Amino acid sequence: MIVCVCHRVSDKTIAQCARSGMAFDDIQLELGVATQCGQCECSARALVAECSPAHAVAHLHLHAPEQASLASARAA
Ligand code: FES
Repeated sequence: MIVCVCHRVSDKTIAQCARSGMAFDDIQLELGVATQCGQCECSARALVAECSPAHAVAHLHLHAPEQASLASARAA
């Protein structure tokens, strides 16, 4: 999906840059995101925050009974 229409920058491109460790300002400078009309800035910033390596990721710790039920569900 195109996030920045003015510069034809997609969400995949922004996410890829963010995952590689680029900050919003770096992405803005490199790709021109949010440098023309500015309509994409909120979406682009949210995407960068979501995909940044520093973004906390939830970890699920399953207890043995739950793992067993998941294993049986997968086998079915
Ligand atoms: S849509 Fe990104 S600057 Fe216009």
